[in-house]
Amino acid sequence: MKIGILNTGNIGARLARAWAAAGHDLVLAKDGEDRKLEPILAELGDKARLGSIREAAEFGEVVLFSVYWPRVSAIVDAVGDALDGKVVIETMNPLGVTPEFKHFHDVDFMRDSSTAEDLQKRLPKARVVKAFSTLAAPVLEAAAWETAPSRPGVPYATDDAAPGRSRASSSRTPASGRSPPAR
Ligand SMILES: NC(=O)c1ccc[n+]([C@@H]2O[C@H](COP(=O)([O-])OP(=O)(O)OC[C@H]3O[C@@H](n4cnc5c(N)ncnc54)[C@H](OP(=O)(O)O)[C@@H]3O)[C@@H](O)[C@H]2O)c1
Repeated sequence: MKIGILNTGNIGARLARAWAAAGHDLVLAKDGEDRKLEPILAELGDKARLGSIREAAEFGEVVLFSVYWPRVSAIVDAVGDALDGKVVIETMNPLGVTPEFKHFHDVDFMRDSSTAEDLQKRLPKARVVKAFSTLAAPVLEAAAWETAPSRPGVPYATDDAAPGRSRASSSRTPASGRSPPAR
């Protein structure tokens, strides 16, 4: 499968490794300085290439949307219509930031919405599914799966059955080949 990674950060890089190991073809995009992706691009070889946010969105049959929440508007603008009709796996938590650059969990936002609901409104033609947001990024390392006494569960949420099936499939692809239970 062709997968676009927006953005290749703590979560995106770990999933990129797992999905490349499972044979998927990737375009990696970075919000910020993409020279930081040189090591992972070298590591993944011909399974991954660098792209802009828009190029990664265009490339993917399924696209990971995993960005710093205060940057969501900018990334949605960069994507344009490239995610229309596609399964979009979003991992985000609603982090607020003050003018003094202090971060906080935006409980006012969480009371009435979620990042997935909000992203679905911003990308009305995409098929949004929320997943991986409850796991700390290191849990997604293939090595963690190899040595774990029990398999981590990967909860996901969507109003659309098709993205749910794609996400369940994508969670069965760590290098170990072990599958977490989809809940
Ligand atoms: N990390 C986790 O364990 C974890 C777990 C669950 C859910 N999540 C959620 O998943 C999403 C992605 O998390 P992540 O940890 O993978 O992201 P991350 O690695 O921190 O990536 C954030 C990206 O945003 C860029 N960026 C641009 N402007 C920025 C600014 N003003 N401040 C900070 N970063 C800026 C960064 O660029 P530079 O690298 O150039 O700074 C970086 O590429 C987030 O919504 C997060 O809440 C994360």
